[in-house]
Amino acid sequence: MKIPLSELKQLIGQPVAAIDTPSLVVDLDAVTRNLVRMAEFARKHEVRWRAHAKAHKSSTLAKLQVQAGAVGVCVQKTAEAEVMVAGGVTDVYISNQVVAPAKLARVAALAHRLAAEHGQLAIAVDSAEGIQRLARAMNEARAAGGGSAVIDVFVEIDVGQGRCGVPPGRTAVTLVHEIRKHPPLRFAGLQAYNGTAQHIRSAQERRALVGVAVQDIVFTRKLIEAEGIPVELITGAGTGSMVGEAASGVYGELQSGSFMFMDADYAANERDAAQPHFEHALFIKTQIMSSGLQHAVCDAGHKSHAIDSGMPAILSIVNDDDETQTESGLEYFNGGDEHGIVRPARSGLRVPALDETLWLIPGHCDPTVNLHDHMIAVKGGLAKGRVERIIRVDARGALT
Ligand SMILES: Cc1ncc(COP(=O)(O)O)c(C=O)c1O
Repeated sequence: MKIPLSELKQLIGQPVAAIDTPSLVVDLDAVTRNLVRMAEFARKHEVRWRAHAKAHKSSTLAKLQVQAGAVGVCVQKTAEAEVMVAGGVTDVYISNQVVAPAKLARVAALAHRLAAEHGQLAIAVDSAEGIQRLARAMNEARAAGGGSAVIDVFVEIDVGQGRCGVPPGRTAVTLVHEIRKHPPLRFAGLQAYNGTAQHIRSAQERRALVGVAVQDIVFTRKLIEAEGIPVELITGAGTGSMVGEAASGVYGELQSGSFMFMDADYAANERDAAQPHFEHALFIKTQIMSSGLQHAVCDAGHKSHAIDSGMPAILSIVNDDDETQTESGLEYFNGGDEHGIVRPARSGLRVPALDETLWLIPGHCDPTVNLHDHMIAVKGGLAKGRVERIIRVDARGALT
């Protein structure tokens, strides 16, 4: 039977050993340290940060980020925005395109709700049609007595990922003019996010890709400003490349999200000397259920963690008093959706024994979180800590 929240809450105050497997566990101390390091980094570089909530899908964690200094959150989906607002987050940016009229009606309703609560909604666009549909939805919400909210609109330029966004240059200027025709829309700046740059292993190559983005932004910004229109804010960046964007003097807002959990894929990047030390903070607690001479099998397969960015790493927690997070010398191999095959990485290392607990560091935090209803938040370390709270993944499955 699926464990109801009321029963899960009985875990609060209990030692980590009481957590059943497989479970999604958050190390709240590591989360706090990561947030402090992010806030310090942003302060030092005089940029704001708007954490991407797609990484955690939880309004509780979003509010923790705002308490730590984030100006608000980014989301990718209308439904995620709705969940964040319902959970009490008042400054939300949908850093993505929304074009379906039914969804835009929800966006407009949310913009009006937030305006009534002294909050703000923002959205990205990359087509004239999208802008006109957004304006229509906002006007309809106004006419229906929803108030006179104004939504902030960022023109997305494609700075190298080949995903959404118009090419840098004239097309962006045309879209800015289109936005300015519609009173319920306010041109707020440019969205310039390069997802490809995040996962390039070489720190130097990541910096080089940010350099290309910066040239594209400066070129586009000049064209817009030549028309007498100020470009207030450039927003973008993720955990992999944020040191480049922060140092550019061009970006005013960082959208990094994964830094708070730090998955195995990001840990495999060569660390830029200027990057804050972000610790792993999201784990799958799993148990060995079969053990032989060459390998063991744990009870967490890819229904527990996403494998799109590779297999999880396995953490060693011999001593978590000194905050060290070291590799365990064990390797995880895909055993299917309910099994993980665990082998010593080198000869001479032992195979884990029956019942032994392992802590997996997921390859990709965002889709891993989306597989779970709750995160079990722990304080005091993974070896000797206790369960502090149960955090609902309230935007789980919020995909529309
Ligand atoms: C538009 C946008 N901004 C920011 C991010 C955050 O990046 P990360 O979670 O890798 O820090 C993403 C991630 O995919 C994104 O798509």
